Amino acid sequence: MALFRFVYALLALGDVGLTQTAQKCRCLYGQSCWPDEASFVALSQQLSQPLLRPVPPASACYPVSSPSGDCAEVLAKFTDGSWRSDQPGALENPNFEAYLHRNGTVDGCYRDTTLGFPCKQGSVPPIGVDARTVEDVQAAVVFARKNNLRLVVKNTGHDYLGRSAGRGGFMLWTHHFKDKSHSDSFVPQGAPTYSKTYNAITLGAGVQWYEAYEYANQQGRFILGGISLGGTVGAAGGWLLGGGHSAFAPRHGLGVDNVIQLTIVVADGRHLTVNAYQHSDLFWALRGGGGGTYGVVTSATYQSHPEFPLTMSAIITNFSSPDIAQSVITEFISLHANLSDAQWGGYTSFSRSNFQVLYVSPNVSQEVAEATLAPFVARTNTTTGGAVQTLFFALSSFYTWYNAVFNAPNQGTQVGFQVELASRLLPYKLAKEQPAKIAKTLLSIEGGVAGNLIAGGVIRSIDPSSTGLNPSWRKAIGQFYVSVGWPEGATGSEILHQRNILKQNADVLDKITTDSGSYVNEGSLYERDFRKTYFGSHYSRLRSIKRKYDAGSLFVVPSGVGSDEWDIDTQCRR
Ligand SMILES: Cc1cc2nc3c(=O)[nH]c(=O)nc-3n(C[C@H](O)[C@H](O)[C@H](O)COP(=O)(O)OP(=O)(O)OC[C@H]3O[C@@H](n4cnc5c(N)ncnc54)[C@H](O)[C@@H]3O)c2cc1C
Ligand SMILES: *[C@@H]1O[C@H](CO)[C@@H](O)[C@H](O)[C@H]1NC(C)=O
Ligand SMILES: *[C@@H]1O[C@H](CO)[C@@H](O)[C@H](O)[C@H]1NC(C)=O
Ligand SMILES: *[C@@H]1O[C@H](CO)[C@@H](O)[C@H](O)[C@H]1NC(C)=O
Ligand SMILES: *[C@@H]1O[C@H](CO)[C@@H](O)[C@H](O)[C@H]1NC(C)=O
Ligand SMILES: *[C@@H]1O[C@H](CO)[C@@H](O)[C@H](O)[C@H]1NC(C)=O
Repeated sequence: MALFRFVYALLALGDVGLTQTAQKCRCLYGQSCWPDEASFVALSQQLSQPLLRPVPPASACYPVSSPSGDCAEVLAKFTDGSWRSDQPGALENPNFEAYLHRNGTVDGCYRDTTLGFPCKQGSVPPIGVDARTVEDVQAAVVFARKNNLRLVVKNTGHDYLGRSAGRGGFMLWTHHFKDKSHSDSFVPQGAPTYSKTYNAITLGAGVQWYEAYEYANQQGRFILGGISLGGTVGAAGGWLLGGGHSAFAPRHGLGVDNVIQLTIVVADGRHLTVNAYQHSDLFWALRGGGGGTYGVVTSATYQSHPEFPLTMSAIITNFSSPDIAQSVITEFISLHANLSDAQWGGYTSFSRSNFQVLYVSPNVSQEVAEATLAPFVARTNTTTGGAVQTLFFALSSFYTWYNAVFNAPNQGTQVGFQVELASRLLPYKLAKEQPAKIAKTLLSIEGGVAGNLIAGGVIRSIDPSSTGLNPSWRKAIGQFYVSVGWPEGATGSEILHQRNILKQNADVLDKITTDSGSYVNEGSLYERDFRKTYFGSHYSRLRSIKRKYDAGSLFVVPSGVGSDEWDIDTQCRR
């Protein structure tokens, strides 16, 4: 069967070569060019699973328009990131399911049915493939190409740029691609004899971090991955392709620094194994060039590391005046530059009225962690008039820490609401030389900022040209971000108003950089120049590698490499 499907895919390919012309616009659902039912039936005969008909999850609560699903379950699980990632039609944050028309009308499908809006499909592709094999991926890619469809690669749906949704598109869902394997003597394909071997873990495109962590733990190994409640971010999709940060990245590097081989289906339907020895240009581009841009990754092989003990430290305080805030945050910025050198990582948030930070320090005892932070804690406690609280915890391994902090029941939620972000990478040099200016800039933002202390350490010592990743990362010690939100049912003008606030705050954040560098996976769609901000000086090389492997621009996402040739919806060429 598999062989038959593969041959069929190749035949279909030949077809494309003969008939394809560069069409100006994609063929969207509802248009007369949209493939007929017979074409979808023919497609489904090549697939291991029935076709998907994704709908926004809340549609289950609108029985007239869509009698599928269980409304009670939807209401109970609405902010459960794991449940959301299991729904083909759900994005982690529902604003990315909705679509804002140019005239200000919002097409969405809201949990609160009493708002009186009809349930609309919005940006959720109405049909898709539940890809579980390489042949499934090849068939879907060839079908999308042949029919000039807007191909939407969706994994977990965590994306903050809405790149895993697309109005009127055709979805390729990788969620059930769950293979995992471990080798203690992995050699990249095509490597010369007697090359270095790796202790490596290979993850299929749909594996999520919580699964990867459990698996690595069973092998007695550590794997560097995303850190979120429930571990639902994808381990081999957008996280990796955009960079992939972790509180342990200052010690072990980013996701792109840990991956040693990828397999990928490219636009012409070929399944390639890419690494330092084969298709090394594509391997370079995939490490930072962004999700949904070069093809469909089917697996990622990461080097694994020995487990290590760690200490978790937390410091919390309140500020009774802006001067106190300024003084404490200035010292904190300077402290963090030092701690990043020692490979500490963590997360912070602060405003003019409060401050909190959580650090993890790998291979550092609690005694040493307390002593390291003691001068900062003592001075901050004096400055704030005794308002500082601290917490220290020694843990035997990453997995113990992750389970205690991110995998415990009833932890709250990070998803299931309307949110957009904007962020900037904080350069080490600026933090060292101008901590007071940085503190002042960040504290000027109404409502405060959040910071991911996930750079510096070894990341700064890795050659910026070794991967396609934005070189700004190699100078950074962390990333600060701002966000906006709105209630479901908000009007188009309310949404635009929030976006304006976001843009203004992004302009403020810009002052903590010298190059406007930002993280594409936690960014905004409304950057003045996404090429510079998300890809820096690597943009033109990323663009030319894209031309080589995706000449027909099948894989286009908003703010992605090559998307400057398309309109804002990535529907029509400019
Ligand atoms: C709650 C939360 C926590 C987060 N925590 C972290 C964190 O700790 N560290 C961090 O670095 N980031 C984090 N992020 C950001 C995260 O990296 C991005 O949301 C990323 O896009 C998620 O990738 P995904 O594959 O899981 O999601 P998706 O939204 O499904 O995909 C994201 C993008 O990648 C593409 N894509 C997905 N799979 C493939 C594939 N197999 N081949 C090609 N393209 C693919 C999609 O087309 C889309 O463009 C977090 C986000 C959220 C919402
Ligand atoms: C806005 O545009 C959409 C799409 O063309 C249309 O369906 C909708 O009725 C329009 N709304 C208004 C208020 O004009
Ligand atoms: C900070 O203030 C809030 C309320 O304003 C209070 O609940 C909290 O305990 C305070 N935290 C500290 C560390 O003093
Ligand atoms: C950071 O390190 C420098 C150089 O060792 C030192 O002068 C400075 O006091 C440190 N800053 C903090 C806040 O620990
Ligand atoms: C862990 O810390 C100990 C003591 O500080 C040190 O000797 C050892 O080299 C460290 N191990 C790693 C892997 O960093
Ligand atoms: C801060 O100072 C107060 C009052 O002097 C004291 O009770 C508290 O223990 C101190 N906190 C820390 C973390 O040192």
